[in-house]
Amino acid sequence: EKGGYEYFMLKEIAEQPSAVADTLLGKLVDGRIVLDEQRLSDQELRDIDKVFIVACGSAYHSGLVAKYAIEHWTRIPCEVEIASEFRYRDPVLDRSTLVVAISQSGETADTLEAVRHAKSQKARVLAVCNTNGAQIPREADAVLYTHAGPEIGVASTKAYLAQIAANYLVGLALAQARGTKFPDEVSAEFHALEQMPELIGQVVERLDQVRQIARELADSKSVLFLGRHVGYPTALEGALKLKELAYMHAEGFPAGELKHGPIALIEEGLPVFVVMPPLHGRSLLHSKLISNIQEIKARGARTIIISAEGDEVVKPFADYLIEIPETTTLLQPLLSTIPYQAFAAEVAAARGYDVDKPRNLAKSVTVE
Ligand code: M6R
Repeated sequence: EKGGYEYFMLKEIAEQPSAVADTLLGKLVDGRIVLDEQRLSDQELRDIDKVFIVACGSAYHSGLVAKYAIEHWTRIPCEVEIASEFRYRDPVLDRSTLVVAISQSGETADTLEAVRHAKSQKARVLAVCNTNGAQIPREADAVLYTHAGPEIGVASTKAYLAQIAANYLVGLALAQARGTKFPDEVSAEFHALEQMPELIGQVVERLDQVRQIARELADSKSVLFLGRHVGYPTALEGALKLKELAYMHAEGFPAGELKHGPIALIEEGLPVFVVMPPLHGRSLLHSKLISNIQEIKARGARTIIISAEGDEVVKPFADYLIEIPETTTLLQPLLSTIPYQAFAAEVAAARGYDVDKPRNLAKSVTVE
């Protein structure tokens, strides 16, 4: 059933084009975004004035990515919080708060408790879930399913990309309800998303280079991941993958935070991954990252740069260069995450670890 792949995770990485395509399928009807189960009225959606995203692990990272799109498109304040933290403080919620609970399994106890807490405070709950009829979607007021199919590898890959796509649909559904985007703008954003599976496929086809880099760096003690804007949650996701699969010390930082502490970690030969935003998207971000890369290179870091094809500016700063197709800044995590998945899997394999079943971890965490 591994379809010729050495482990499920590789198969699931390769299934990402269809995971995203299937998640988008049928979601634009007559120019309007439709959710799967909508037990909220249009008026209730229009009245939303605050969004809280709650989730754990990779699902939380997908929520961090979503915040950039949701605030940009809807102008509604959006906070993203680890479910187990949200649950045990005293978040300010009321009936005009939308709590988006993201969970692949739909059974994660921390996220489920956050949902129950939100409901007890009268907040509206929307679940983004990969498992039909699981507990979290059952208790939610509205549901949007990701259609990644069953994910066997403990490390989330295709479900993660599908979550990012689904979260963007949530943002568009809110923008349409609130009227912060015209219908043709919503359709245009949707069609841009629909282009992504093809580009995801191109990244998947070129992963041999990443696997080679992984074998070269498999003995590293520590690896850092840097990014700005949506590249920041992508850095967190890259570090999480490496921790959970390769049991290697890894940390993700917003690149702008470097000089506030983490730069002290840089020493000769330390591998540092950086995702470059597209050069033509927000060139200000691009030049800020170039300065960050100069700072770490001057201190001996070995840079592994993920950048859009045709970005000549970054090339002189890359010890290793991984090129991905050009897309917009917002959509880039759908591509830039993939090399991180393959890198972690290959380092784990090179170290002789079980890629699909890392130690101490369960696929679905049903206890708090
Ligand atoms: O099923 P869920 O999406 O609620 O699971 C959340 C996390 O436990 C999950 O993403 C975990 O972090 C993965 N092992 C990440 O690869």
